[in-house]
Amino acid sequence: MSGQEEQQERWSAVDRYVEELLAPHDAALEAAIEESERAGLPQIQVSPSQGKLLHLLASAIGARTILEFGTLGAYSTIWLARALPAGGRLITFEADPRYAEVARQNVDRAGLGEIVDLRVGPALDLLPELDAEDAGPFDLTFIDADKEHTPDYFAWALDRSRPGALIVADNVVRAGELADERSEDPKIAAQRRLHEAIAAEPRVSATTIQTVGGKGYDGFTLALVLG
Ligand SMILES: C[S@@+](CC[C@H](N)C(=O)[O-])C[C@H]1O[C@@H](n2cnc3c(N)ncnc32)[C@H](O)[C@@H]1O
Repeated sequence: MSGQEEQQERWSAVDRYVEELLAPHDAALEAAIEESERAGLPQIQVSPSQGKLLHLLASAIGARTILEFGTLGAYSTIWLARALPAGGRLITFEADPRYAEVARQNVDRAGLGEIVDLRVGPALDLLPELDAEDAGPFDLTFIDADKEHTPDYFAWALDRSRPGALIVADNVVRAGELADERSEDPKIAAQRRLHEAIAAEPRVSATTIQTVGGKGYDGFTLALVLG
């Protein structure tokens, strides 16, 4: 085993240890993963610990309205929606209709069909619908779709977030490439644009946390919308 493989195995082992004790799956979360895998969806959902973190963040701020970019099989959606009180609402965008179908079944199986409003199509095309419906303001936004558009989703969500709201953007560190100013990867350029925009934005206070675990080395940005 190479040093890198050993390191990855250790990160995965710690994730398994923490998840078993602090973020265990119940039947609905387990089924969401299994059915997504059976349907051939890519296994790129957040880890159980990350799902639990999203749940804790939404609970801590008493979120009533949540916006999510990137549903996949609704694994993160379920963690987030379970933090909502009666009458709460979560709107989530998924571009791929096949993924959305699996997500819908997973959400219904989790008993969250009334709370989760799944919109199918490229998020940027669908956002005007939300404005037309006066769907905001949002208490928590989770950005986890096409990474090139993370800064666009952030800007849109910020304009529609109440003071005290949180915006979380996932996969911003990308194995450390975030710090590589010469990177030609458009996904990296987008995360750098996101950071530069946040740095110049007086309406938020934010930080980025690097993470290691079963999913390798990455990280997320957490922004608090100021009053
Ligand atoms: C990383 S996955 C989301 C994982 C999910 N948040 C979870 O943790 O369970 C990203 C998802 O975004 C979707 N996606 C990609 N481009 C999109 C777009 N323009 N609008 C909406 N969804 C998009 C992909 O089809 C994919 O399902």
